Amino acid sequence: MADPERLNRKIRAALAPCSLGQWPTPLERGAPALARTLGVEALWIKREDRSSPRYGGNKVRGLEFLLAGAPPGSVFVTVGGTGSTHCLATAVHAAALSCRAALAQFPQPETATSRAVAAASQAHAALVVRAATRASLPVALLSAWRGARRLGSRRWIPAGGAHPRAVVGHLLATLELTRQLPDPPDAIVAPLGTGGTVAGLLLGIAGLGWPTRVIGVRVAPTLVANRWRATRLARRARRLLARVGVPLPAPRSPDIVNGLGRGYGSPTVEGEAARQLAAQHGLVLDSTYGAKAFGVLLRRGTWNVQRVVFWHTFAMPAALPESMP
Ligand SMILES: Cc1ncc(COP(=O)(O)O)c(C=O)c1O
Repeated sequence: MADPERLNRKIRAALAPCSLGQWPTPLERGAPALARTLGVEALWIKREDRSSPRYGGNKVRGLEFLLAGAPPGSVFVTVGGTGSTHCLATAVHAAALSCRAALAQFPQPETATSRAVAAASQAHAALVVRAATRASLPVALLSAWRGARRLGSRRWIPAGGAHPRAVVGHLLATLELTRQLPDPPDAIVAPLGTGGTVAGLLLGIAGLGWPTRVIGVRVAPTLVANRWRATRLARRARRLLARVGVPLPAPRSPDIVNGLGRGYGSPTVEGEAARQLAAQHGLVLDSTYGAKAFGVLLRRGTWNVQRVVFWHTFAMPAALPESMP
């Protein structure tokens, strides 16, 4: 097993991320009554939502690697749903580096939460181009890319920040667990969108030599969120690290579970039941990511895991009361 501290230092020295978040994120023990209800021996919550006081969530890890080295005045162009926390996090953290963001966005089902994220994105980004339908997203993207040229030197960030450099950020999260847990957990459960988060977990687990299963709960269409894509991202990140002198063992593939329901951003019955149950135990989840991922833990007997880490990825924008859906 690699020495996690040494691995962390080597990776940071080799890829020089910028500093946007506060690490490690807390690992909290879930309420024993909640674990009992789920039928597991122990539940921990990795509070990725608390990754930054500016604006937290899982995307901050990747942005430390994606925004690094950009001269002040650069404009990051990216794409996502109107309620995309990737878009919001890009806009907020670009501004912290004296840079800006131009966003192309497609419509998604509206909830109070997605509306709040959309409003915050609009407030923080230099340019937001909204497509009327998903089909017209390419036109919106072209318009955002062209409009960004007037604002400064442009840099492209793929949807969800799903890039091998960002995957390395999520790998570092896995290393934090070695100081926070006495033993490897049986499973880590995380929402699967564009795949970077799960890819980083897979690579981190491989580096640590842990037997832990990574369970990705699909919350976006299969075209985007699938085993092949997450595994490929993990392999590409592994090759990137090998090139800079940080060799790691080959990652395994994740277990993928479908939590999508009618579509991205559409609440599901299972997810909402999970959200309510979690709330009764003080754990606040959103409908699009957290609730759907947590919901699969309610599917009793689906897997034989007893010690589970739940990856809590969604951060509420500051102005939104925490109790909203
Ligand atoms: C809050 C939140 N959780 C989880 C995910 C899924 O992460 P990934 O896109 O890395 O699979 C996203 C992606 O958009 C997200 O915004």
